[in-house]
Amino acid sequence: MHRFHYKGRELYCEETPLSKIAQEAGTPFYLYSIRTFLDHFFKLKEAFAPARPLICFSVKANSNLTILKTLVKKGAGLDIVSGGELFRAKKAGADPQKIVFASVGKREDEIETAIRSKILMFNVESVDELDVINAVACKLKTTQKIAIRLNPDVTPGTHHYITTGARENKFGLDAETAYKLFAESYRYPFLRFSGVHIHIGSQITQARPFVLAIRRALAFIDSVRSVGSPVEYLNIGGGLGIIYSKEKPQTAQRFAEAVLPLFKAYDLERDLKIILEPGRFISGNSGILVTKVLYEKRTKQKSFVVVDAGMNDLIRPAFYGAYHEILPVIRRRSASLRVADVVGPVCESGDFLAKDRKLPPFEKGDLLAVMSCGAYGFVMSSNYNSRPRVPEVVVKGRRFFVARKRETFGDLIRNEKIVKEVLS
Ligand SMILES: Cc1ncc(COP(=O)(O)O)c(C=O)c1O
Repeated sequence: MHRFHYKGRELYCEETPLSKIAQEAGTPFYLYSIRTFLDHFFKLKEAFAPARPLICFSVKANSNLTILKTLVKKGAGLDIVSGGELFRAKKAGADPQKIVFASVGKREDEIETAIRSKILMFNVESVDELDVINAVACKLKTTQKIAIRLNPDVTPGTHHYITTGARENKFGLDAETAYKLFAESYRYPFLRFSGVHIHIGSQITQARPFVLAIRRALAFIDSVRSVGSPVEYLNIGGGLGIIYSKEKPQTAQRFAEAVLPLFKAYDLERDLKIILEPGRFISGNSGILVTKVLYEKRTKQKSFVVVDAGMNDLIRPAFYGAYHEILPVIRRRSASLRVADVVGPVCESGDFLAKDRKLPPFEKGDLLAVMSCGAYGFVMSSNYNSRPRVPEVVVKGRRFFVARKRETFGDLIRNEKIVKEVLS
Protein backbone atom coordinates (compact mmCIF):
# COMPACT_ATOMS: atom_id res chain seq x y z
CA MET A 1 0.00 0.00 0.00
CA HIS A 2 1.12 3.51 -0.69
CA ARG A 3 -0.22 7.01 -0.98
CA PHE A 4 0.44 7.70 -4.67
CA HIS A 5 -2.95 7.69 -6.37
CA TYR A 6 -4.93 9.29 -9.19
CA LYS A 7 -7.47 11.99 -8.47
CA GLY A 8 -9.33 12.31 -11.72
CA ARG A 9 -6.65 12.06 -14.37
CA GLU A 10 -3.79 13.39 -12.28
CA LEU A 11 -1.36 11.48 -10.08
CA TYR A 12 -1.08 12.74 -6.51
CA CYS A 13 1.28 12.04 -3.66
CA GLU A 14 -0.95 12.14 -0.57
CA GLU A 15 -2.98 15.32 -1.24
CA THR A 16 -0.46 17.03 -3.48
CA PRO A 17 -0.58 16.92 -7.30
CA LEU A 18 2.71 15.82 -8.83
CA SER A 19 2.60 18.36 -11.64
CA LYS A 20 2.64 21.17 -9.09
CA ILE A 21 5.78 19.76 -7.48
CA ALA A 22 7.45 19.29 -10.88
CA GLN A 23 6.76 22.92 -11.74
CA GLU A 24 8.73 24.06 -8.70
CA ALA A 25 11.37 21.36 -8.36
CA GLY A 26 12.06 20.77 -12.06
CA THR A 27 12.73 17.23 -13.29
CA PRO A 28 13.91 14.62 -12.58
CA PHE A 29 13.32 14.33 -8.82
CA TYR A 30 12.73 11.72 -6.16
CA LEU A 31 9.49 12.13 -4.27
CA TYR A 32 8.75 10.58 -0.87
CA SER A 33 5.43 10.24 0.92
CA ILE A 34 6.11 10.72 4.61
CA ARG A 35 2.82 9.10 5.57
CA THR A 36 3.61 5.98 3.55
CA PHE A 37 6.94 5.63 5.36
CA LEU A 38 5.14 5.86 8.68
CA ASP A 39 2.32 3.51 7.62
CA HIS A 40 4.86 0.81 6.79
CA PHE A 41 6.89 1.35 9.96
CA PHE A 42 3.77 1.12 12.12
CA LYS A 43 2.44 -1.92 10.25
CA LEU A 44 5.57 -3.82 11.18
CA LYS A 45 5.62 -2.45 14.71
CA GLU A 46 2.01 -3.43 15.31
CA ALA A 47 2.41 -6.89 13.78
CA PHE A 48 5.34 -7.60 16.10
CA ALA A 49 3.84 -5.74 19.09
CA PRO A 50 3.69 -8.82 21.36
CA ALA A 51 7.48 -9.18 21.02
CA ARG A 52 8.29 -5.48 21.44
CA PRO A 53 11.23 -5.70 19.02
CA LEU A 54 13.77 -3.04 18.23
CA ILE A 55 13.08 -2.01 14.62
CA CYS A 56 16.25 -0.61 13.07
CA PHE A 57 15.49 0.96 9.69
CA SER A 58 18.19 -0.01 7.24
CA VAL A 59 19.83 3.29 6.30
CA LYS A 60 21.33 1.85 3.12
CA ALA A 61 17.85 1.66 1.59
CA ASN A 62 17.17 5.37 1.98
CA SER A 63 19.48 7.67 3.91
CA ASN A 64 17.73 10.99 3.45
CA LEU A 65 18.01 12.89 6.74
CA THR A 66 14.36 13.95 6.82
CA ILE A 67 13.28 10.34 6.33
CA LEU A 68 15.65 9.09 9.02
CA LYS A 69 14.53 11.76 11.45
CA THR A 70 10.85 10.99 10.73
CA LEU A 71 11.38 7.34 11.65
CA VAL A 72 13.70 8.03 14.58
CA LYS A 73 11.11 10.38 16.08
CA LYS A 74 8.65 7.48 16.08
CA GLY A 75 11.04 5.26 17.97
CA ALA A 76 12.96 3.54 15.16
CA GLY A 77 16.55 2.49 15.57
CA LEU A 78 18.93 2.43 12.61
CA ASP A 79 20.94 -0.29 10.90
CA ILE A 80 24.14 1.18 9.47
CA VAL A 81 27.00 -0.15 7.35
CA SER A 82 29.59 2.64 7.26
CA GLY A 83 31.06 5.64 9.01
CA GLY A 84 29.05 7.81 6.63
CA GLU A 85 25.81 6.16 7.68
CA LEU A 86 26.79 6.59 11.34
CA PHE A 87 27.34 10.29 10.64
CA ARG A 88 23.89 10.50 9.08
CA ALA A 89 22.31 8.54 11.94
CA LYS A 90 23.76 10.98 14.45
CA LYS A 91 22.66 13.99 12.40
CA ALA A 92 19.15 12.50 12.39
CA GLY A 93 19.27 12.34 16.19
CA ALA A 94 19.17 8.54 16.48
CA ASP A 95 19.57 7.08 19.94
CA PRO A 96 23.03 5.41 19.73
CA GLN A 97 21.70 2.56 21.83
CA LYS A 98 19.35 1.80 18.94
CA ILE A 99 22.10 1.66 16.29
CA VAL A 100 23.47 -1.63 14.97
CA PHE A 101 26.48 -1.70 12.65
CA ALA A 102 26.85 -4.43 9.99
CA SER A 103 29.22 -4.70 6.94
CA VAL A 104 31.94 -7.19 6.06
CA GLY A 105 34.53 -4.43 5.75
CA LYS A 106 34.37 -2.08 8.72
CA ARG A 107 37.51 0.04 8.92
CA GLU A 108 39.30 0.58 12.22
CA ASP A 109 38.53 4.31 12.24
CA GLU A 110 34.84 3.55 11.65
CA ILE A 111 34.89 1.04 14.50
CA GLU A 112 36.52 3.55 16.83
CA THR A 113 34.00 6.29 16.00
CA ALA A 114 31.13 3.86 16.49
CA ILE A 115 32.43 2.70 19.90
CA ARG A 116 33.00 6.30 20.97
CA SER A 117 29.44 7.05 19.83
CA LYS A 118 28.22 4.26 22.17
CA ILE A 119 26.28 2.31 19.54
CA LEU A 120 24.34 -0.71 20.74
CA MET A 121 26.34 -3.35 18.88
CA PHE A 122 28.38 -4.44 15.91
CA ASN A 123 27.19 -7.32 13.75
CA VAL A 124 30.50 -9.07 13.26
CA GLU A 125 31.24 -10.86 9.99
CA SER A 126 34.74 -12.35 10.45
CA VAL A 127 37.27 -13.50 13.03
CA ASP A 128 39.72 -10.78 11.96
CA GLU A 129 37.07 -8.13 12.52
CA LEU A 130 36.43 -9.45 16.03
CA ASP A 131 40.14 -9.00 16.82
CA VAL A 132 40.06 -5.42 15.58
CA ILE A 133 36.92 -4.46 17.54
CA ASN A 134 38.40 -6.06 20.67
CA ALA A 135 41.67 -4.11 20.21
CA VAL A 136 39.87 -0.81 19.65
CA ALA A 137 37.60 -1.38 22.68
CA CYS A 138 40.74 -2.16 24.73
CA LYS A 139 42.37 1.08 23.55
CA LEU A 140 39.24 2.99 24.54
CA LYS A 141 39.05 1.11 27.89
CA THR A 142 35.50 -0.04 27.34
CA THR A 143 33.44 -3.15 26.76
CA GLN A 144 31.53 -3.35 23.49
CA LYS A 145 28.50 -5.49 22.69
CA ILE A 146 28.72 -7.53 19.53
CA ALA A 147 26.52 -9.98 17.65
CA ILE A 148 27.99 -12.68 15.48
CA ARG A 149 26.47 -12.73 12.02
CA LEU A 150 25.58 -16.32 11.39
CA ASN A 151 25.42 -17.53 7.82
CA PRO A 152 22.43 -19.88 8.14
CA ASP A 153 22.98 -21.34 4.65
CA VAL A 154 19.50 -20.60 3.40
CA THR A 155 18.77 -19.70 -0.23
CA PRO A 156 15.76 -17.41 -0.25
CA GLY A 157 14.90 -17.56 -3.96
CA THR A 158 15.61 -13.93 -4.77
CA HIS A 159 18.00 -12.24 -7.23
CA HIS A 160 21.47 -13.72 -6.75
CA TYR A 161 22.94 -10.23 -6.20
CA ILE A 162 20.73 -9.82 -3.12
CA THR A 163 21.07 -13.30 -1.65
CA THR A 164 23.23 -12.98 1.45
CA GLY A 165 22.59 -16.00 3.67
CA ALA A 166 23.87 -18.82 1.47
CA ARG A 167 27.12 -20.66 2.13
CA GLU A 168 28.89 -19.18 -0.90
CA ASN A 169 28.11 -15.56 0.03
CA LYS A 170 30.71 -13.33 1.66
CA PHE A 171 28.45 -12.58 4.62
CA GLY A 172 28.53 -14.00 8.12
CA LEU A 173 30.22 -17.02 9.65
CA ASP A 174 29.30 -20.68 9.42
CA ALA A 175 27.77 -22.23 12.53
CA GLU A 176 30.90 -24.18 13.45
CA THR A 177 33.19 -21.13 13.40
CA ALA A 178 30.57 -19.01 15.16
CA TYR A 179 30.11 -21.62 17.89
CA LYS A 180 33.86 -21.75 18.50
CA LEU A 181 33.93 -17.97 18.89
CA PHE A 182 31.16 -18.00 21.50
CA ALA A 183 32.83 -20.88 23.33
CA GLU A 184 36.12 -18.95 23.34
CA SER A 185 34.67 -15.54 24.04
CA TYR A 186 37.05 -15.24 27.03
CA ARG A 187 39.75 -14.51 24.42
CA TYR A 188 38.04 -11.18 23.75
CA PRO A 189 37.94 -9.49 27.18
CA PHE A 190 36.69 -6.18 25.79
CA LEU A 191 33.71 -7.67 23.94
CA ARG A 192 30.35 -8.88 25.15
CA PHE A 193 28.99 -11.64 22.95
CA SER A 194 25.41 -10.38 23.22
CA GLY A 195 23.72 -11.40 20.05
CA VAL A 196 23.27 -13.47 16.96
CA HIS A 197 22.52 -11.79 13.65
CA ILE A 198 21.13 -13.19 10.41
CA HIS A 199 20.17 -11.47 7.18
CA ILE A 200 19.46 -13.85 4.33
CA GLY A 201 18.77 -11.46 1.46
CA SER A 202 16.40 -8.87 0.11
CA GLN A 203 13.03 -8.78 -1.68
CA ILE A 204 12.00 -12.11 -0.13
CA THR A 205 8.27 -12.55 -0.62
CA GLN A 206 7.69 -15.80 1.32
CA ALA A 207 8.00 -16.51 5.04
CA ARG A 208 9.56 -19.95 4.59
CA PRO A 209 13.24 -18.96 4.16
CA PHE A 210 12.97 -16.63 7.16
CA VAL A 211 11.43 -19.39 9.25
CA LEU A 212 14.18 -21.81 8.26
CA ALA A 213 16.93 -19.31 9.03
CA ILE A 214 15.39 -18.25 12.37
CA ARG A 215 15.00 -21.90 13.42
CA ARG A 216 18.69 -22.43 12.71
CA ALA A 217 19.63 -19.25 14.57
CA LEU A 218 17.54 -20.24 17.61
CA ALA A 219 19.05 -23.73 17.67
CA PHE A 220 22.44 -22.04 17.52
CA ILE A 221 21.53 -19.71 20.41
CA ASP A 222 20.38 -22.71 22.49
CA SER A 223 23.67 -24.46 21.81
CA VAL A 224 25.86 -21.52 22.82
CA ARG A 225 23.72 -20.78 25.85
CA SER A 226 24.33 -24.33 27.00
CA VAL A 227 28.04 -23.50 27.17
CA GLY A 228 27.35 -20.41 29.24
CA SER A 229 27.01 -17.62 26.66
CA PRO A 230 24.28 -15.21 27.73
CA VAL A 231 22.88 -14.29 24.30
CA GLU A 232 20.41 -11.42 24.74
CA TYR A 233 19.49 -10.55 21.13
CA LEU A 234 18.48 -12.28 17.93
CA ASN A 235 18.65 -9.88 15.01
CA ILE A 236 16.57 -11.41 12.22
CA GLY A 237 17.73 -8.85 9.64
CA GLY A 238 15.66 -7.26 6.91
CA GLY A 239 14.70 -8.64 3.53
CA LEU A 240 10.91 -8.40 3.43
CA GLY A 241 9.72 -8.19 -0.16
CA ILE A 242 7.34 -5.61 -1.60
CA ILE A 243 5.12 -5.25 -4.66
CA TYR A 244 6.91 -3.87 -7.71
CA SER A 245 4.72 -5.59 -10.27
CA LYS A 246 2.76 -8.79 -9.71
CA GLU A 247 4.51 -10.04 -6.57
CA LYS A 248 2.28 -11.23 -3.76
CA PRO A 249 4.50 -10.69 -0.75
CA GLN A 250 3.54 -11.63 2.76
CA THR A 251 2.05 -8.81 4.79
CA ALA A 252 3.75 -7.69 8.01
CA GLN A 253 0.96 -9.47 9.89
CA ARG A 254 1.50 -12.76 8.04
CA PHE A 255 5.23 -12.46 8.51
CA ALA A 256 4.82 -11.94 12.25
CA GLU A 257 2.35 -14.84 12.44
CA ALA A 258 4.93 -17.12 10.84
CA VAL A 259 7.87 -15.90 12.87
CA LEU A 260 6.61 -15.19 16.38
CA PRO A 261 5.53 -18.76 17.25
CA LEU A 262 9.16 -19.81 16.76
CA PHE A 263 9.97 -17.79 19.87
CA LYS A 264 7.32 -19.30 22.14
CA ALA A 265 9.93 -20.94 24.37
CA TYR A 266 11.59 -17.56 25.06
CA ASP A 267 10.58 -14.65 27.25
CA LEU A 268 10.91 -11.81 24.74
CA GLU A 269 10.96 -9.16 27.48
CA ARG A 270 13.76 -10.58 29.62
CA ASP A 271 15.26 -13.56 27.89
CA LEU A 272 15.79 -12.73 24.23
CA LYS A 273 15.13 -9.48 22.41
CA ILE A 274 14.28 -9.44 18.71
CA ILE A 275 15.86 -6.89 16.36
CA LEU A 276 14.55 -6.29 12.83
CA GLU A 277 16.39 -4.41 10.07
CA PRO A 278 13.83 -3.63 7.37
CA GLY A 279 14.84 -1.29 4.57
CA ARG A 280 12.83 -1.98 1.44
CA PHE A 281 9.62 -2.88 3.31
CA ILE A 282 9.44 0.58 4.89
CA SER A 283 10.82 2.69 2.06
CA GLY A 284 10.38 0.88 -1.29
CA ASN A 285 6.84 1.91 -2.10
CA SER A 286 7.12 5.19 -0.20
CA GLY A 287 9.05 6.91 -2.98
CA ILE A 288 8.97 7.44 -6.73
CA LEU A 289 11.16 9.06 -9.37
CA VAL A 290 9.49 11.70 -11.51
CA THR A 291 10.96 12.25 -14.96
CA LYS A 292 10.04 14.16 -18.14
CA VAL A 293 9.72 12.87 -21.68
CA LEU A 294 12.35 14.46 -23.93
CA TYR A 295 11.77 12.59 -27.17
CA GLU A 296 9.87 9.75 -28.73
CA LYS A 297 12.11 7.82 -31.06
CA ARG A 298 11.04 5.09 -33.46
CA THR A 299 13.46 2.82 -35.25
CA LYS A 300 12.51 -0.03 -37.58
CA GLN A 301 12.91 -2.44 -34.67
CA LYS A 302 11.68 -0.55 -31.66
CA SER A 303 10.08 2.46 -30.05
CA PHE A 304 11.93 4.41 -27.41
CA VAL A 305 10.67 6.98 -24.96
CA VAL A 306 13.70 9.09 -24.09
CA VAL A 307 13.37 10.68 -20.65
CA ASP A 308 15.54 13.03 -18.58
CA ALA A 309 16.30 10.47 -15.81
CA GLY A 310 18.95 7.87 -16.46
CA MET A 311 20.69 4.88 -14.96
CA ASN A 312 22.83 7.21 -12.87
CA ASP A 313 19.62 8.36 -11.14
CA LEU A 314 18.07 4.89 -10.80
CA ILE A 315 20.38 1.97 -11.44
CA ARG A 316 18.13 -0.89 -10.36
CA PRO A 317 16.79 -1.78 -13.84
CA ALA A 318 20.33 -1.89 -15.29
CA PHE A 319 21.89 -3.54 -12.26
CA TYR A 320 19.33 -6.16 -11.28
CA GLY A 321 16.98 -6.15 -14.27
CA ALA A 322 14.51 -4.71 -11.77
CA TYR A 323 10.95 -3.87 -12.79
CA HIS A 324 9.51 -0.46 -11.94
CA GLU A 325 6.01 0.41 -13.02
CA ILE A 326 5.83 3.57 -15.16
CA LEU A 327 2.73 5.73 -14.85
CA PRO A 328 1.77 8.94 -16.63
CA VAL A 329 1.41 11.85 -14.22
CA ILE A 330 -1.56 13.05 -16.28
CA ARG A 331 -3.61 10.25 -17.86
CA ARG A 332 -4.88 10.97 -21.34
CA ARG A 333 -8.42 10.05 -22.26
CA SER A 334 -7.61 7.81 -25.22
CA ALA A 335 -4.93 5.41 -24.17
CA SER A 336 -4.25 2.84 -26.89
CA LEU A 337 -1.12 1.05 -25.74
CA ARG A 338 2.05 0.31 -27.69
CA VAL A 339 5.30 -1.40 -26.72
CA ALA A 340 8.35 0.78 -26.01
CA ASP A 341 11.53 1.00 -23.99
CA VAL A 342 11.88 3.91 -21.58
CA VAL A 343 15.50 5.02 -21.76
CA GLY A 344 17.67 7.75 -20.30
CA PRO A 345 20.31 10.06 -21.77
CA VAL A 346 23.34 8.10 -20.49
CA CYS A 347 25.75 6.65 -23.04
CA GLU A 348 25.13 3.00 -22.21
CA SER A 349 22.76 0.48 -23.72
CA GLY A 350 22.08 -0.56 -20.14
CA ASP A 351 20.58 2.86 -19.52
CA PHE A 352 16.91 1.96 -19.38
CA LEU A 353 14.13 2.35 -16.86
CA ALA A 354 11.75 -0.07 -18.60
CA LYS A 355 12.07 -2.57 -21.44
CA ASP A 356 9.38 -3.71 -23.87
CA ARG A 357 6.70 -2.09 -21.79
CA LYS A 358 3.09 -1.57 -22.90
CA LEU A 359 2.62 2.17 -22.51
CA PRO A 360 0.24 4.85 -23.72
CA PRO A 361 1.66 7.32 -26.27
CA PHE A 362 3.51 10.25 -24.72
CA GLU A 363 4.37 13.72 -25.91
CA LYS A 364 7.46 15.77 -25.35
CA GLY A 365 7.20 17.35 -21.89
CA ASP A 366 4.90 14.69 -20.40
CA LEU A 367 5.74 13.72 -16.85
CA LEU A 368 6.19 10.07 -15.93
CA ALA A 369 6.27 8.51 -12.48
CA VAL A 370 8.68 5.63 -12.01
CA MET A 371 7.08 3.80 -9.12
CA SER A 372 8.55 1.98 -6.09
CA CYS A 373 11.84 3.88 -6.02
CA GLY A 374 12.01 4.72 -2.30
CA ALA A 375 14.51 1.92 -1.54
CA TYR A 376 17.90 1.60 -3.22
CA GLY A 377 16.97 4.49 -5.51
CA PHE A 378 18.60 7.81 -4.72
CA VAL A 379 21.17 6.12 -2.43
CA MET A 380 22.58 4.21 -5.41
CA SER A 381 22.63 7.22 -7.71
CA SER A 382 25.88 8.57 -9.12
CA ASN A 383 27.34 11.42 -11.14
CA TYR A 384 28.09 9.21 -14.16
CA ASN A 385 28.19 11.26 -17.37
CA SER A 386 28.72 14.28 -15.08
CA ARG A 387 25.04 14.41 -14.30
CA PRO A 388 24.24 16.25 -11.05
CA ARG A 389 22.26 14.18 -8.54
CA VAL A 390 18.56 15.00 -8.54
CA PRO A 391 16.65 16.53 -5.61
CA GLU A 392 14.71 14.59 -3.01
CA VAL A 393 11.32 16.08 -2.25
CA VAL A 394 9.09 15.07 0.67
CA VAL A 395 5.32 15.37 0.85
CA LYS A 396 3.15 15.48 3.90
CA GLY A 397 -0.51 15.94 3.10
CA ARG A 398 -0.93 19.05 0.99
CA ARG A 399 2.59 20.36 1.53
CA PHE A 400 5.88 19.53 -0.12
CA PHE A 401 9.46 20.45 0.68
CA VAL A 402 12.83 19.95 -0.97
CA ALA A 403 14.72 17.75 1.51
CA ARG A 404 17.85 17.61 -0.60
CA LYS A 405 18.66 20.18 -3.27
CA ARG A 406 19.50 19.35 -6.86
CA GLU A 407 23.26 19.28 -7.27
CA THR A 408 24.83 21.99 -9.38
CA PHE A 409 27.61 21.74 -11.95
CA GLY A 410 29.77 23.38 -9.27
CA ASP A 411 29.03 20.43 -6.96
CA LEU A 412 30.39 18.10 -9.62
CA ILE A 413 33.89 19.58 -9.38
CA ARG A 414 33.84 20.71 -5.74
CA ASN A 415 36.62 18.37 -4.64
CA GLU A 416 38.68 18.59 -7.80
CA LYS A 417 41.54 20.79 -8.88
CA ILE A 418 43.57 21.00 -12.03
CA VAL A 419 47.01 19.71 -11.07
CA LYS A 420 49.32 22.19 -12.77
CA GLU A 421 52.41 20.07 -12.07
CA VAL A 422 51.36 17.46 -14.63
CA LEU A 423 50.59 19.95 -17.39
CA SER A 424 54.10 21.02 -18.38
C1 LIG B 1 22.64 -6.64 7.04
C2 LIG B 1 21.46 -6.07 6.34
N1 LIG B 1 20.37 -5.75 7.06
C3 LIG B 1 19.28 -5.22 6.48
C4 LIG B 1 19.22 -4.99 5.12
C5 LIG B 1 17.98 -4.39 4.53
O1 LIG B 1 17.41 -5.26 3.65
P1 LIG B 1 15.97 -4.94 3.03
O2 LIG B 1 16.03 -3.61 2.42
O3 LIG B 1 15.75 -6.02 2.03
O4 LIG B 1 14.98 -5.02 4.14
C6 LIG B 1 20.32 -5.33 4.33
C7 LIG B 1 20.29 -5.12 2.88
O5 LIG B 1 21.09 -5.52 2.11
C8 LIG B 1 21.49 -5.88 4.96
O6 LIG B 1 22.56 -6.19 4.25
